[in-house]
Amino acid sequence: MQKKKAVFTFILMAAFALSLSMSFTAAAREWDLTLPSLKEAFEEYFPIGNILEPGEAADGRTAEMFIHHYNFVTAENAMKPANIARTPGDWDFSFHRLDFLVDWALENDINVVGHTLVWHSQSADWLTKNIDGTPLTRAEARDNMERYINTVAGHFAGRIYSWDVVNEAFLTSVGSLPITPADEGWWRHMLRTERGGNEASPWFAAYANGIDEAAGEHPSDYIYDAFVFARLADPNAILYYNDFNETSAGKREAMAQMTEELNARWLSDPRNDDPGRLLVEGIGMQAHYWTSDLSPVSVELTIMRFAETGARVSITELDIPMGRFGAFEEATEENLRKQANLYRDLFDVFIRHADSIERVTFWGKADHQSWRHQGSPLLFDSNFQVKDSFHQIVALAQWLSPSDAVSDNEPEYNEPDEEGEEIAPPELEIIPENDSGIPWVIIAIAAGVLMLIIGIILINVKKV
Ligand code: G3I
Repeated sequence: MQKKKAVFTFILMAAFALSLSMSFTAAAREWDLTLPSLKEAFEEYFPIGNILEPGEAADGRTAEMFIHHYNFVTAENAMKPANIARTPGDWDFSFHRLDFLVDWALENDINVVGHTLVWHSQSADWLTKNIDGTPLTRAEARDNMERYINTVAGHFAGRIYSWDVVNEAFLTSVGSLPITPADEGWWRHMLRTERGGNEASPWFAAYANGIDEAAGEHPSDYIYDAFVFARLADPNAILYYNDFNETSAGKREAMAQMTEELNARWLSDPRNDDPGRLLVEGIGMQAHYWTSDLSPVSVELTIMRFAETGARVSITELDIPMGRFGAFEEATEENLRKQANLYRDLFDVFIRHADSIERVTFWGKADHQSWRHQGSPLLFDSNFQVKDSFHQIVALAQWLSPSDAVSDNEPEYNEPDEEGEEIAPPELEIIPENDSGIPWVIIAIAAGVLMLIIGIILINVKKV
């Protein structure tokens, strides 16, 4: 009986020590709001955004951190068609959550990006399919699209800065290039079609069903329709096309040519009451890169090609996990250094092309929250601590900043040395918000070990 009691006491105490240790670990995971603000560091060049879900905006500390660093917000998932209207007419609940996020953002001078209206993924089936999974007709799908965009873009009209109107319409890989000018309309053949499993687009499939080719119709018309419906539903919002693998030569060209052709078509559209304004006004470079093969030169070429279309360019979903596609790597010291250098080189490109860039948005706040968390892709680690990548880009902004050059506090690290060698940015002083967190974890673990010893002694005393 005594032995049982001792074991029970021991378990209780160990559990207490464990919960104590866990709560102190959680306390140690705190955002450090004494760090330089990202949006301020880049304010002369472009705004800085990140993702936030409605529930996160309701969390005081996360919200505070967001306001400190960012002036653009994109909902990571909440504003996608699958989450807004699972069944036709089922809008209210989603609008209620999203209104909270949008109003919170606007109250805090944060612009909102609507992500996204028309996508092959995370989209409610009723928009494009019959109950048995077969595609709706072109006319039915078009009606649903118009209703969806009118309702959603209409609901948020005046509060959304820009919409990602169509997301990822092109195939993951576009392997060829057009032979111009004979290949006019080449980009249409690079789109997701009704075939290809995960690569397929239900919008393309429905727009192919009941098509009148003799009248010049094409399944890709869904893209043009989406932009026109969005323009009519919220004329204030800037309309974007958004895609990934945008730095590959083929995909870059496909995205650019599509933008040019849709804008040319809009010029003679009777619904266009502002001929000076483009229809596809922005191209979103998702910027989901990898440390193993990211080439800042191809990023630069892409920005330049997109700017040539006359559209604005935004970096919409930036992250750089360690490793390569299909093979994440650990956050070793070497990988962290490599990642930091890549972030610095990328921002060097962005700053030099700031005239073409409307905004730079990161796709995630701290590493463990990322959709690619295995590759530790962001500026903050899983304990919310800054990584060298953060220091590198902030130092770069200060180093290049014209106003810093004339400020009273001349940064000492501004001048290259005589040999022209690269000078490491200074260590920024980091004052952890809760620097007593880590020692408390040690104390809590020590308490657990002490409990263990006491438990063993109690058991053995009884035995004797
Ligand atoms: O909400 C459900 C939850 O109820 C369920 O228990 C759980 C089980 O897996 O899944 C949860 O849904 C997940 C959702 O994220 C919310 O966390 C989905 O499985 C998961 O697939 C979904 O992933 C999102 C992904 O888009 C879907 O395509 C990522 O969070 C989101 O970061 C990612 O974002 C996309 C952009 O919209 C477009 N560009 C590419 C980018 C990365 O894929």
